[in-house]
Amino acid sequence: MRSHYCGGINESHIDQEVTLCGWVHRRRDHGGVIFLDLRDRDGISQVVIDPDTPESFALAEKVRSEFVVKVTGFVRRRPAGTENSNMPTGQVEMLGKEVTILNTAATPPFPLDEHVDVGEDVRLRYRFIDLRRPEMLNRLRFRSRVTSYIRNYLDSNGFMDVETPILTRATPEGARDYLVPSRTHEGSFFALPQSPQLFKQMLMVSGVDRYYQIAKCFRDEDLRADRQPEFTQVDIEASFVNEEDLMSLNEGMIRALFKDVMDVELPEFPRMSHAEAMERFGSDKPDLRIPLELQDVGDLVASVDFKVFAGPASDPKGRVAALRVPKGGELSRKKIDEYTRFVGIYGAKGLAYIKVNELAKGVEGLQSPIVKFLGEEVAMAVIERTGAEDGDIVFFGADKTTVVNEALGALRIRIGHDLDLLTSQWSPLWVVDFPMFEELPEGGFTAIHHPFTAPSCSPEELVSNPATALSRAYDMVLNGTELGGGSIRIHNEQMQQEVLRILGIGEEEARAKFGFLLDALKYGCPPHGGLALGLDRLIMLLTGASSIRDVIAFPKTQSATCLMTQAPGEVDEKQLRELNIRLRKKPAKAVDDQASATQEK
Ligand code: AMO
Ligand code: AMP
Repeated sequence: MRSHYCGGINESHIDQEVTLCGWVHRRRDHGGVIFLDLRDRDGISQVVIDPDTPESFALAEKVRSEFVVKVTGFVRRRPAGTENSNMPTGQVEMLGKEVTILNTAATPPFPLDEHVDVGEDVRLRYRFIDLRRPEMLNRLRFRSRVTSYIRNYLDSNGFMDVETPILTRATPEGARDYLVPSRTHEGSFFALPQSPQLFKQMLMVSGVDRYYQIAKCFRDEDLRADRQPEFTQVDIEASFVNEEDLMSLNEGMIRALFKDVMDVELPEFPRMSHAEAMERFGSDKPDLRIPLELQDVGDLVASVDFKVFAGPASDPKGRVAALRVPKGGELSRKKIDEYTRFVGIYGAKGLAYIKVNELAKGVEGLQSPIVKFLGEEVAMAVIERTGAEDGDIVFFGADKTTVVNEALGALRIRIGHDLDLLTSQWSPLWVVDFPMFEELPEGGFTAIHHPFTAPSCSPEELVSNPATALSRAYDMVLNGTELGGGSIRIHNEQMQQEVLRILGIGEEEARAKFGFLLDALKYGCPPHGGLALGLDRLIMLLTGASSIRDVIAFPKTQSATCLMTQAPGEVDEKQLRELNIRLRKKPAKAVDDQASATQEK
């Protein structure tokens, strides 16, 4: 139908006849001539239609925003003074001779400017229009370029793309399953995969040796800005490898990708143990762009007469930590109160601080609500430990270790951004030496990664010290986001049984849930391992999008609904009967999101 894309017209086409197709971005009438800005996925061209072609002129008068048209005409240089150097096509325009209206369009629910000032629910309801915006289309195009690069990279490294089932059994990655009732097996359900984990392990037993898949994963969990119920992994597994092989392969791929699509030379990824990351940054995915660190001061305050500090300092599960903020002495009382409320979100009961006004004056030079409780000697020792200087502020957290880490870890990031402290644009790292298990408050253990992750010790050592055992897992972290995670897997049946036992999964349950895995381990399973990268998160970081939803064509809302298709939806009685399902409660007519979308309209 067309000879060129609208965005592809330039000075090399002057005097040529071209045919463009697209959407009318804008129509302007200017004293007898009509200007149409014609838009397609590659850009915008200016089309001029004058009354010399009366038929086309009459049609051009009829077109409205977002009409679909085809125009044939000649490319010419724009008159001097009317060029637009902000547009790639801004030196030229098309003198349209023949206009065809291919389709009309109702008035769009929001203008397609770069700065859409409209609620996200309206954008999601009319996603097909939202995606017309160049910003959104460019993200999709970029995403396609990234997946294509990754496929090429893995193909040329001997990886084989294998598809794994979507209708399957539960694959434990720590979230709730999405279930699909089986019609042919009354009362039985498929689960959608939380990841292809067990299938990729089976492929290793089968001798595929190097597998990858750009795989859809499904997890029914609480959603945040960087989580979707349905998301995409670059899923990788290889045989006869160790953690070094896998980390260097994946690091190599990400560094090559950054070079190719962003022209960014990422530094080599440093490695940090999980224990060090928690101690210094209060997080297992530290944002190393922010030059602030937590420091333990528990030993200094264990015997002060201030229970808030002394309690956690002498509790093996407690922590008292300091966070020094250079030049933070300028923070106002109001700001400190705001930070106190902020750490409250993470369960902190307060936010003690010491401002260092003049160190030379000793304790007199400190300004703080807690120095009087700590006493001169301890206060000075704490300040010395943190290395604080005049003009600094030191914040403190004292509580259960998890609360202190989460609260001060989040505060560190918040202050880093508030005070513009970021030292680089990109800061990747590997976090390694994760513990195998986490102790549950109610007793027992849960797997930190998944139950198929190999420990770095023998089965006997694992059984005698599950709480302190480390795993052969590694996470790739970029700018404080967990981009991917993986591990060397268990390839020995006895070890797998021990791990399942520690997790409280008895033999019978293990057989029922993972019988095929336990069988496979008996039939010559090679040592193997892998990793999965969160593709959506990767694209989000690369494009600077603030939400994962902006890099997914048809995302779900925070409450896991699709506003465009109105999924999930009700089904009729007949379908339910076929599935042998009776609902305990009549479903509410509309989900909340849909109600609010209607209000916005
Ligand atoms: P894991 O559960 O760590 O590992 O997932 C790997 C990566 O997937 C991304 N991710 C998500 N992205 C968007 N929305 C979500 N709800 C979501 N959940 C996870 C993250 C994460 O780092 N089978 C293992 C991998 C392996 O061991 O090889 C797994 O799924 O970026
Ligand atoms: P209080 O004696 O409770 O008024 O607390 C004195 C100071 O300690 C205040 O600045 C509180 O914000 C702070 N504070 C209280 N509880 C904690 C805590 N768990 N961790 C850190 N600071 C705290």
